[in-house]
Amino acid sequence: MPKRTLDTIWWPFVQHGLSNSENDVTVIDSAHSDFFSVYRPQGDKNKSLLTPEFDGSASWWTQTVGHAHPSLTLAAARASGRYGHVMFPQATHLPALNLAERLVQDGPGKGWASRAFYSDNGSTGMEVAIKMALRAYCVRNNIGDDKKQLGVLGLNGSYHGDTIGAMDACAEGVYSCEWHDAKGFWFDPPSVGITNGQPAIDLPRGLSALAGEKVAQAPSLSWIYDVEPRLRSSLAETYRTYIQDQLKFLEIRGQKFGALVLEPLVMGAGGMIFVDPLFQRIMIDVVRSQGDGQLSGWKGLPVIFDEVFVGLHRIGMESTGPLLGVHPDISVNAKILTGGLVPLAITLASKSIFEAFWGDDKASALLHGHSYTAHAIGCEVANETMKIMQTLKSSQAWKDARAMWSQDESPKAAWSFWDPGFVYAVSQLPVVKTTMALGTLLVIRLQSDSEAGVSERLDDGVILMSCQVTRPCLHRLLLLPYGNVSPTLTILRTPPLALLLQLITELLARLHTS
Ligand SMILES: Cc1ncc(COP(=O)(O)O)c(C=O)c1O
Repeated sequence: MPKRTLDTIWWPFVQHGLSNSENDVTVIDSAHSDFFSVYRPQGDKNKSLLTPEFDGSASWWTQTVGHAHPSLTLAAARASGRYGHVMFPQATHLPALNLAERLVQDGPGKGWASRAFYSDNGSTGMEVAIKMALRAYCVRNNIGDDKKQLGVLGLNGSYHGDTIGAMDACAEGVYSCEWHDAKGFWFDPPSVGITNGQPAIDLPRGLSALAGEKVAQAPSLSWIYDVEPRLRSSLAETYRTYIQDQLKFLEIRGQKFGALVLEPLVMGAGGMIFVDPLFQRIMIDVVRSQGDGQLSGWKGLPVIFDEVFVGLHRIGMESTGPLLGVHPDISVNAKILTGGLVPLAITLASKSIFEAFWGDDKASALLHGHSYTAHAIGCEVANETMKIMQTLKSSQAWKDARAMWSQDESPKAAWSFWDPGFVYAVSQLPVVKTTMALGTLLVIRLQSDSEAGVSERLDDGVILMSCQVTRPCLHRLLLLPYGNVSPTLTILRTPPLALLLQLITELLARLHTS
């Protein structure tokens, strides 16, 4: 299989010039729970040919309740037997309707969304979101020929997928292609991390000059993620001034924007950057404060939350609006939505966004669709995933994890399945620069000579990281390399945490002694 693979397959995100030996091919026999079962003969006929390998990136952050979960598999079989795939325009079926109602009324859309639009994956969900936002902006502002000039506002390090429109909503970087045309402006974000046992906010150059400090120390992570009281702080004032001044400068330069697009709280693929939530909240407030207060619905610019990575409890909360204290006008979910079994995405929109497409001519409708839109099997699996999640939310395991991160009785937004003792202790190792944990996500950022982010030096970073993580460990840890960052996810069932901690401790010990 390795030889046939090297001869025929074109991998995603892989430089074949660097991965061209048969040892570079991981032959997955099957997968169960947190582990791949990998074909790896050990030269001893008494030993199994298969080795369990921890799925360190939760298969690109899709896995939710473990590989091969019986309830999800049965849900897929059920919908497959009843519908297979059926086309969706002017039609409905129970799996799609139930899921849309659940997400709009009692999910990430609660309190603001009125419509759910289906597509196939995170990238297409974002394409739809951008089309919705730009149309709403143009209709509201009577923009005609100038509409092609509209860009988006966002943050450096963001990633919204690999289709061309989703890429154009991001700054130039390694994920860009020849056709890429970075349409917008992206602020450098202040980021949260634990350095030497101390939570802190690292300010990028422009902001640190204004604030008079490079790093803002924080009493605790819960303090950082308690956004409302921080709105009155001097740092909030600095953020506000910085953002307002930049926007004025961009206006003078003639740049025009039709949406604010954010990956709330954590920018995943662009480098696992935990953005200071206060900065994102103030971006939204500033943009909305520039809007016309007389009109219903959104103000200033439509705000898109790309929750493809962070949404549906990946980072310990169903959606990020309640923590930020503001709702988006459009949001996107995928990945966890279907428990990691089949692809599906949903774009939620408020009433006023939907109304921008309302009319009596077909041309003004949202003319977007995919062959497998509202795939019945995907929707049924998603409904089953949401059901399991509902039970998990009140489970003892989740209560225990929350309790570990609470200094007092009150439930805290910033919590994780990872043991805080471990996360803080690892941050004090000499090889470690910062650690951070939220929900299932643990990021250990290693010391490196370069301050450059992954987007500027992916190749170096990958080499660096892959030679570190491929050293033999207890089980070979399969971490997805992203520069000097190791993104590691547990699945939401929080099973063998002790085992995972042991694996990572061992890995770090090896790095430390090498
Ligand atoms: C925040 C975010 N948005 C969009 C996408 C694209 O999703 P997909 O790979 O399903 O197209 C990703 C993928 O990692 C993502 O992390």
